Amino acid sequence: MNELDQLDELMTCRIDDGRKIVEPCSIVIFGASGDLTARKLIPAFYHLYGAKQLPTPFRIIGFARREKTDDQWREELRVALRQFSRSQPVDETIWEAFAPNLFYCQGDFSDANAYKKLAQQLSSFGNDQLRHHLLFYLATSPSQFGEVVEQLHNADLLHLGEQSGAWQRLVVEKPFGHDLQSAQALNADLTRHAHEKQVFRIDHYLGKETVQNILMFRFSNSIFEELWNRKSIDHVQITVSEKLGVGQRGGYYEEAGAIRDMVQNHLLQVLSLVAMEPPVSLDAEPIRDEKVKLLKSIRALSVSDVAKQVVRGQYFAGMIDGQLRPGYRQEGRVKSDSNVETYVALKLFLDNWRWSGVPFFLRTGKSLPLSASEVRIQFHRTPNVLFAAQCGSKLDANALTLRLQPNEGISLRFNGKVPGTSLQVRPVRMHFSYNTEFGAYTPEAYERLLLEAMAGDATLFIRRDEVETAWSIVDAIRKGWEGRALTNREFYSAGTWGPVAADDLLAQTGHAWRDPQPIA
Ligand code: BG6
Repeated sequence: MNELDQLDELMTCRIDDGRKIVEPCSIVIFGASGDLTARKLIPAFYHLYGAKQLPTPFRIIGFARREKTDDQWREELRVALRQFSRSQPVDETIWEAFAPNLFYCQGDFSDANAYKKLAQQLSSFGNDQLRHHLLFYLATSPSQFGEVVEQLHNADLLHLGEQSGAWQRLVVEKPFGHDLQSAQALNADLTRHAHEKQVFRIDHYLGKETVQNILMFRFSNSIFEELWNRKSIDHVQITVSEKLGVGQRGGYYEEAGAIRDMVQNHLLQVLSLVAMEPPVSLDAEPIRDEKVKLLKSIRALSVSDVAKQVVRGQYFAGMIDGQLRPGYRQEGRVKSDSNVETYVALKLFLDNWRWSGVPFFLRTGKSLPLSASEVRIQFHRTPNVLFAAQCGSKLDANALTLRLQPNEGISLRFNGKVPGTSLQVRPVRMHFSYNTEFGAYTPEAYERLLLEAMAGDATLFIRRDEVETAWSIVDAIRKGWEGRALTNREFYSAGTWGPVAADDLLAQTGHAWRDPQPIA
């Protein structure tokens, strides 16, 4: 360690020591035969176990319809882990120690006897905490949430609120409803026998390091937060682009489209963290209060606003990395005349004191040239004198870019003199790169989220009013699209940065998209 590193180490403020207090508990995964369990949940638990972050003792029970023994389930998971683990090869010593904590419970979600069996299995664990600290992970279709909750309650496994020495929590995944009404119905199902505080709604973007860093960056530095308002900022661009098309998920995507799949959750979450007011403390509720307040400040969109401020797009066949990629309408389980959007761009205004008049441009799409998520804060131009008077629009505006993934980092772009005897000015950049600063560190979002749910910290989970407010924004947009087919200006070739209509959206106010750049 050099002297500078030693100094940085001394200056590191440890808000927690990286170890959550997680009491011994049992985790029950409903829908344990599904993809999510094999791809995400078990690899995440395995890594947490390897990092000694799981409590001692703990148990994981997979609950699913198919008949199998504990050993068969363990074997299936071992094979899946070899495929999906973020670290390769799988450490067999860790797996051998981890696997005996996995158990299987065969049953139908609607069969009361299956829950009795589950209750017996939990009692057989002996240890009081393993019997009474219960995390129910509902990796099922949302239409089954109500049934599972009801059955858990009937089997005396789920109670409203915490009793001394016992807690039960419900963890759920997206899609959380398909509109406000269905989300309200799901919320009613979940809270029939559990308090809101017992419900942990996952948005995996909140488990990403760089997304968590947004609050730290904003509220632990005075230089940026001073500028974080309409006086200094011209506009904000949030881009979440994906190179992949919809692939095997055509059936799901036909029902969702980009607005429900990405905007309702991930993009609005990033927006709320970028633009919210400072919370009164770092506790879960003050942070979530501010996020909801921010979402509520988004100016409501009427049907005519949607036509002016929201652009849909759909990809047709095109080249990505030298390969011809099919158009959306040619993907499996997609209608040949589908009007579903694979791209959305929005111009939103936040009606609050800080952001009044500042446009927030959000966009997301599939089959774009790069997979990248970033937030670009563009500052006002300098007054039109001196250099600006000479250079006009060639004198670039300053911008701060938060690169959420990949090449995680932050860049500041400003103007500088090109060395030499002539007078030339051009943009230069200052970069902070996570990898360079901290070395490669790539935990899966699920590791953090599972740990937080076990510890009972709801900061990184979506509260009921948050999810419902986000749906009301999305519902207004979908209402504006009703009965309108995509126009020619809303189609884009795979491998391009979206439809022409999205460029028009920014051009109306003299703006232009700044596309994420591959890092050489
Ligand atoms: C999921 C969406 O929630 O997020 C997918 O359903 C999308 O369509 C994915 O590809 C993007 O997540 P990430 O972590 O790869 O940016």
